[in-house]
Amino acid sequence: MIKPIRLANNNFLSSLDISIDEITHILELSRNFKNKKLNIDLSNKVLGLIFDKSSTRTRVSFQVAMSRLGGTTIDLNPTTSQIGRGEPIKDTARVLSRYCDVIAIRTFDHSDLEEYAKWSTKPVINALTDLEHPCQALADFLTIHEEFLDLKDVVLTFIGDGNNVANSLILCGALLGVEVRIACPKGYEPNPWVIKKAYEIYKNKYLLKITNDPNTAVLGANVLYTDVWSSMGEENKKDEKDKDFNGFTITNDLVSKADKNAIILHCLPAYRSKEITDEAFESKNSRIFEQAENRMHVQQALLACLISR
Ligand code: CP
Ligand code: NVA
Repeated sequence: MIKPIRLANNNFLSSLDISIDEITHILELSRNFKNKKLNIDLSNKVLGLIFDKSSTRTRVSFQVAMSRLGGTTIDLNPTTSQIGRGEPIKDTARVLSRYCDVIAIRTFDHSDLEEYAKWSTKPVINALTDLEHPCQALADFLTIHEEFLDLKDVVLTFIGDGNNVANSLILCGALLGVEVRIACPKGYEPNPWVIKKAYEIYKNKYLLKITNDPNTAVLGANVLYTDVWSSMGEENKKDEKDKDFNGFTITNDLVSKADKNAIILHCLPAYRSKEITDEAFESKNSRIFEQAENRMHVQQALLACLISR
């Protein structure tokens, strides 16, 4: 029976914190958890959850993942803890790591997450920052792998904002050797540091393409992926972004230009008629709810690799 291996890094702040072998191992473990072929005991282990932004999937999938492993979770709502009153991160991190065995954090600035990790003596997991959403990318590639056995044959086209979700897809895609095409409006390209890192990882540099034309980006693609146009914290930019992203909606017409067996993914929550039409969202090509379920399986695997003995 497969056993979780300890990751070389103590934290999972970025898709870059794991190696090619480690990501392959996490996906393999996730499949075993999903098929109920693996029993790992994390009883007496406690996961602390700090969410500075809203969450349905990440919060609940971490809670259920931990509960399935026999451990418990504490939801550290910033508004009812001293975090919301401005207690320094370095103090909160040092205190919480004396109570908890692992801490998952969703916040705005990636540097705040890094500050938690710097002061915590226990593993810290990125539950989404403005820069990255690496747990999401693990679930996405588990979902893609369920459909396409050899990831190296897959073309993944992301249509939307080049921020956290796209950044983590690029980095994970680079590790796994997947062709990743990002189609975004001008000015919404992925983070330059992420692009640079991905080009360093890819053996074939033509496998990452950034374009402003969704119609060419989808040609022959096996996976079409989108995310909200206005991310959490950007509520005041909604009208401007709705205009800027005009033409970047996943419609059935756009899907028809991709490979005939292409699947549709969305990290959720979704806004119909903005980034995706209801028809495309509900179509037979959609694997959106399998993808949401897979959040739980990959996080079980991740927790097992970070804290099981
Ligand atoms: N996809 C995702 O992270 O969803 P939540 O914001 O609901 O956690
Ligand atoms: N880009 C989105 C992802 C939500 C899971 C956001 O940051 O709000």
